[in-house]
Amino acid sequence: MYQKIPVSDFSIGSIPTIQDLEFNYLKNIIYEKTGISLAPHKKIMLQSRLNIRLRQNKISSFHDYVKKLKQEPDFFKSEIHEIINRITTNKTDFFRENHHFEYLKKTALPAIEEKARFGRKTVRIWCSASSTGEEPYSIAITLHDYFATKPGWDIKVFASDIDTNVLTHADKGIYKEDRFAAVPKDIVMKHFTLLNNSSDGKEYRIKPNIRELVTFKKINLLDPSYPFMEKFDIIFCRNVIIYFDKPTQKAIFQKMEKVLADEGLLIIGHSETLFGITENFKFLGHTIYQRKPQNQL
Ligand SMILES: C[S@@+](CC[C@H](N)C(=O)[O-])C[C@H]1O[C@@H](n2cnc3c(N)ncnc32)[C@H](O)[C@@H]1O
Repeated sequence: MYQKIPVSDFSIGSIPTIQDLEFNYLKNIIYEKTGISLAPHKKIMLQSRLNIRLRQNKISSFHDYVKKLKQEPDFFKSEIHEIINRITTNKTDFFRENHHFEYLKKTALPAIEEKARFGRKTVRIWCSASSTGEEPYSIAITLHDYFATKPGWDIKVFASDIDTNVLTHADKGIYKEDRFAAVPKDIVMKHFTLLNNSSDGKEYRIKPNIRELVTFKKINLLDPSYPFMEKFDIIFCRNVIIYFDKPTQKAIFQKMEKVLADEGLLIIGHSETLFGITENFKFLGHTIYQRKPQNQL
């Protein structure tokens, strides 16, 4: 998994600790800027993720760090991006929750194909919390393989995240061997090129024909609206709303509805639900939802 905090960056015995006052200040700005809602028991997690920022800024206590954030607007402006990059949890995998990719192949893509008999041969998918890229590349591989023998299709996967570090990683499309532990060998051989085979292990890069299907961009799901001209057939919003409270989830799905086609699909993570959040989607099972047509709302 993408490493947030290199352990070697710490010298044992000199770790500043965070007090309630500083935790509350940081928790509030993180909530305001990202929607991520930190429970009180996350104090130690926050402390360990931000300790490196104190070291890099040569600040010896959380008290001084928070004081600088409060008193120096320029410092706040640049530091807030670093805080966001440190605080996000980026756990992901290739073909994570594989039943969603099976659903794409067996149900969603055939339905899109059927609809296209009377219209444009396009597929537009937004992966809205793409982390280090495993999820959008899994989508792109699924689309590529499905449409490989069907000419004339225009396929685009739009991938976004709030964390600029993971976006840089995703953009390169280079992954260590251990990321493929649960991926069938033939998929790795077909869609990745071996880059390095050193004592540190093997590294693979996504092949250009898959890479070019995916565009990465920084988007904060808290932004007032989402910057798309075209509507999406499918939105993946998996394993991110668990970090948000209900009002934030409601606001996000209201904005997603506006960029999702009538009867388009919204796919969320295994521990997430739209129950009690919005009634504008029909539940299809396995955390897959379908936007109700405008005339049924
Ligand atoms: C646990 S990962 C999930 C990755 C992938 N969707 C999956 O299911 O494997 C959550 C991702 O959401 C991103 N995230 C958190 N808050 C966000 C926000 N306000 N806007 C956009 N992305 C956000 C994080 O940076 C992180 O990469």
